[in-house]
Amino acid sequence: MLFLSESDVKKALTMDDVIESVEGAYRDYSKKLVDVPSRITLHVRDENNDAIFLTANYHSMPFYGIKQASSFPSNVRKGKETVLADIHLYSADTGEALAVVSATYLTALKTGAASAIATKFLAKEEACILAIIGTGAQARTQLDGIQRVRRLKEVRLFDLDLEKAEKFQRYIEEIKNRDYNTIITNSANECIESADIVTTVTTSSRPVFDGKYLGDGIHINAVGSFTPNMQEIDSDTVMKAKKIVTDIQKESWAVAGDLLVPLKEGKITQEKMYAELGDIVAGKIPGREDEKEVTIYESVGFAALDIAVAITAYRKSLTAGIGSIVEQ
Ligand SMILES: NC(=O)c1ccc[n+]([C@@H]2O[C@H](COP(=O)([O-])OP(=O)(O)OC[C@H]3O[C@@H](n4cnc5c(N)ncnc54)[C@H](O)[C@@H]3O)[C@@H](O)[C@H]2O)c1
Repeated sequence: MLFLSESDVKKALTMDDVIESVEGAYRDYSKKLVDVPSRITLHVRDENNDAIFLTANYHSMPFYGIKQASSFPSNVRKGKETVLADIHLYSADTGEALAVVSATYLTALKTGAASAIATKFLAKEEACILAIIGTGAQARTQLDGIQRVRRLKEVRLFDLDLEKAEKFQRYIEEIKNRDYNTIITNSANECIESADIVTTVTTSSRPVFDGKYLGDGIHINAVGSFTPNMQEIDSDTVMKAKKIVTDIQKESWAVAGDLLVPLKEGKITQEKMYAELGDIVAGKIPGREDEKEVTIYESVGFAALDIAVAITAYRKSLTAGIGSIVEQ
């Protein structure tokens, strides 16, 4: 069995690899070439700490797998990352365990790639101002993915913790792929004003900006809300959106506070959901159709993507001799 550590995964995968495998996974899911059973969520001791078990069974590739993701906000007090994960991959031919893949960085890459694909299909073609609200661990790969699908001229940042925003601004200088400006704003509302693309990637349990500051034609990647009591997007924004797209509908209506709050308030029905992103990627239905429509990609985590990226890491590592073989 192959063991891939976090540093092995960093050696094996590039963001471009991950964007390609995530796009392929969306297409496979739309063509019913992968089964994704419902997730299991355990609330672990501290009521805000969750362990999430996500599985996917590929028919287009000889693998199935399970991801365990720990979302432990209480780790902030311990100086540790709040999202940790690992993936176990199995052979669909023999049922043997093939690999254990450390998946904390892989998760961040996958989540950034998924927002990049959503942005590719849903943002305006000429979108060039990106606003990022929340500048923690996931924000890095959000930016890295999105900068590959649109020609950015400005990146606007807001975080409740100014030091984190400043650290992120310095990081951008290391990874930016063209010469765009970065600005730290004084409020989330100032951050989204005049933006073409907004990514919310916080651990917030209440809306992070006021929807009345949103311009026409904006595309939002809502990444942080993955339990019913987490919310980043207010009900007015959800109501205003012409197209709400998600990774996996049945999960979103079970866990995404961004959608469940307006649903409970009676402001929307489940009919408000336009599509799963895979159906747009597979060309079954259109993405953005006009300059003015507001679009939202509600991202709740989707095992088809994680397992596909782990398969890519496994295959590339075998070819390149990365990782350690361990006896079971
Ligand atoms: N959709 C997915 O597939 C997916 C995958 C991984 C993580 N996530 C989720 O994304 C979220 C962010 O993860 P992370 O690892 O970057 O967390 P993190 O703790 O590293 O960073 C979160 C940042 O958000 C900031 N923040 C919190 N509330 C805010 C608010 N109201 N306004 C502005 N900033 C605020 C914090 O100061 C912090 O800097 C988590 O909820 C995580 O579970 C989603």
